[in-house]
Amino acid sequence: MSLAGKKIAVTGAFGSLGMAVVEAALAAGASVAAIDRAPSPHPSTAAAFAKAQLFGDVDLSADGIAEKTFALAAEKLGGLDALINVAGAFRWETLEKGSLETWDLLYNVNLRSAVAASKAALPALLRSGNARIVNIGAAAAHKASSGMGAYTASKAGVFRFTEALADELKDRGVTVNAILPTTIDTPANRKDMPDADFSRWVKPAEIADVILFLLSDRARAITGALIPVAGRV
Ligand SMILES: NC(=O)c1ccc[n+]([C@@H]2O[C@H](COP(=O)([O-])OP(=O)(O)OC[C@H]3O[C@@H](n4cnc5c(N)ncnc54)[C@H](OP(=O)(O)O)[C@@H]3O)[C@@H](O)[C@H]2O)c1
Repeated sequence: MSLAGKKIAVTGAFGSLGMAVVEAALAAGASVAAIDRAPSPHPSTAAAFAKAQLFGDVDLSADGIAEKTFALAAEKLGGLDALINVAGAFRWETLEKGSLETWDLLYNVNLRSAVAASKAALPALLRSGNARIVNIGAAAAHKASSGMGAYTASKAGVFRFTEALADELKDRGVTVNAILPTTIDTPANRKDMPDADFSRWVKPAEIADVILFLLSDRARAITGALIPVAGRV
């Protein structure tokens, strides 16, 4: 699938899924702005980012940071046709033993940073005339279980944000959808769950393929969708 000429911003770009999205978008011919809170990609993955514009040390949940970053990204890429909001975090914590700070942290990273990035990118996306926003929710947010309150509340917020923004922009040339992964096959998950059957987990590259489809013209009629991408879980 060709994305030649498309200008794409990816947040959380230096993480496992973000990197797969950057690699897939570059391979499809897009220009890519890779945005992350970490200063730079891990040296072992640097080659994957060789053709991307890098924006490290960017905390999107901090006031005013998203505006500056997206103005610069749109300037460097010469516009913006898509925003992929991958930045996120996970904590498992019961209410009894946990802290209110965890609720604030996950709200900020999983929801506020996607809202801030979307708001900051919106002027450039509207100028594109045929633009896309893709958020990353989580299948787990459909029904919470013990210890999953803060995480699933923040990701359920991503569901509702996706629907609201899709409706707001449906006549303005911007589609807004969310991918809902189950457990992704990442090094962090393999370390945390060493006895699991990794072969059942969805691969970052498989999720990137679905995102690339959403960015293509063939997906122009899809907006406001919450799309499970579950591998064989
Ligand atoms: N992994 C899974 O099994 C799974 C399942 C369902 C949904 N998801 C969602 O999928 C997305 C990607 O997951 P992943 O496993 O690839 O995560 P990851 O490897 O931890 O990557 C997330 C990246 O986002 C960055 N980030 C966090 N907060 C940020 C902020 N405020 N501003 C800018 N960058 C920020 C992180 O930087 P730091 O390293 O500095 O924090 C990290 O580089 C997340 O939204 C996650 O919630 C993951």
